[in-house]
Amino acid sequence: MLKFRYKVLFVCLGNICRSPTAEGVLRHLAAQEAPRLVLEIDSAGTADYHIGAAPDPRSQRAALGRGIDISGLRARQVTKDDFARYDLILAMDRSNLSELEGIKPGNSHAALKLFLDYAPELNLREVPDPYYGDASAFEEVLDLTLAASRGLLSALEEGR
Ligand code: 4NP
Repeated sequence: MLKFRYKVLFVCLGNICRSPTAEGVLRHLAAQEAPRLVLEIDSAGTADYHIGAAPDPRSQRAALGRGIDISGLRARQVTKDDFARYDLILAMDRSNLSELEGIKPGNSHAALKLFLDYAPELNLREVPDPYYGDASAFEEVLDLTLAASRGLLSALEEGR
């Protein structure tokens, strides 16, 4: 039987640029394009630098440019408990993925993947860290997260 209820956690380094953007984008697209899915969506960082902080103003601006308000999100650090709670944990880059592999408890059934695996047409496996980049780096995060979120929604709708 197909399952339509999923818990998805996005993870980057600081949880102020890429993963809160992905959280906002997936929530927005799911509401518009995948009403059958019941999703719990959150994001977290592997680092503790920005705990409690709102998304970077540059990420907020880029998201708002696509009609997505992420201003209410607040950064947190990923925990071992996340591996029990979430079905799917999606890393933005390989460094995030290897950090997550390092803390994943042996009994966790969470699927741990690179987010861009849901957008194979991009021929890119990582969402580049925009933190030290210019406005175009933040636009690229939106482009990539929109594409991968569409792929993810299709996969979940098909029970893949
Ligand atoms: P994020 O970006 O991992 O996409 O949230 C970064 C945010 C902060 C830092 C690095 C990347 N930092 O070095 O503080």
